[in-house]
Amino acid sequence: MGSLEQGYGKTVVLKNINLTVNSGEILALIGPSGAGKTTLVSTIMGMLKPMKGDVTVLNTAMPNRQLLAKIGFMAQTDALYESLTAQENLMFFGSMQGIARKQLREKIPHAANIVNLVPDLKKYVKDYSGGMKRRLSLAIALVSDPEILILDEPTVGIDPELRQQIWNELHKLAKAGRTILLTTHVMEDAEEADEVMMIRNGAAIAQGTPEQLISEYDVHSVEEVFLKAGRQQDAHTNND
Ligand SMILES: Nc1ncnc2c1ncn2[C@@H]1O[C@H](COP(=O)(O)OP(=O)(O)O)[C@@H](O)[C@H]1O
Ligand SMILES: [Mg+2]
Repeated sequence: MGSLEQGYGKTVVLKNINLTVNSGEILALIGPSGAGKTTLVSTIMGMLKPMKGDVTVLNTAMPNRQLLAKIGFMAQTDALYESLTAQENLMFFGSMQGIARKQLREKIPHAANIVNLVPDLKKYVKDYSGGMKRRLSLAIALVSDPEILILDEPTVGIDPELRQQIWNELHKLAKAGRTILLTTHVMEDAEEADEVMMIRNGAAIAQGTPEQLISEYDVHSVEEVFLKAGRQQDAHTNND
């Protein structure tokens, strides 16, 4: 990605973002609510045109229709068909990703199992809880086994045990060469990632592997890195 600037109308929300996700790697965008994570993810997906800079995915400029079929995307807001069952949603969105129906029927149990939804596949989504909808959205992103996963807050509303199960799966997928970009405001998630980019007030305040950052900032946890980098950002802003 070329140095990116993004915003809404005349308001600049993101400045000077330089982000590269390597294949086989999990990159976590971490930052508090309102930091600009969803704006960045929507820009990468080609849903928003950058004010400045450009986005390239697999050496192709975004937006690009063919490429979208290779991306498993989970939006922050669940976009599901409430009047269909979970199974039917998975069939529908999987077909949109270009997977044959027969193949999908074989793949759905695996995707549903990752998020513990196998017993609830025949239920209508309108009868799902918020957490179940989040899990179904994640299963939809996973079902076509895409080369790239872009997940906006995939762990929100997910209990700790299942969260670990999901992380195990993400690590497995990365090992198999998949590229994963996710957003989170939870520091435990950042500790699981190979690379983190910390975003605060629309700027990247720290970037690197969790180990690198902990050593560079001379602290003991990713959370302390965030706090220290945040104080440095404030000091810098006050001097301007
Ligand atoms: N559609 C929009 N129009 C105007 N401002 C927006 C819009 N979406 C988000 N914003 C603003 O952009 C900033 C970043 O929001 P967002 O990217 O959603 O942050 P995050 O995902 O990190 O919580 C916030 O100040 C938010 O109010
Ligand atoms: Mg968001």
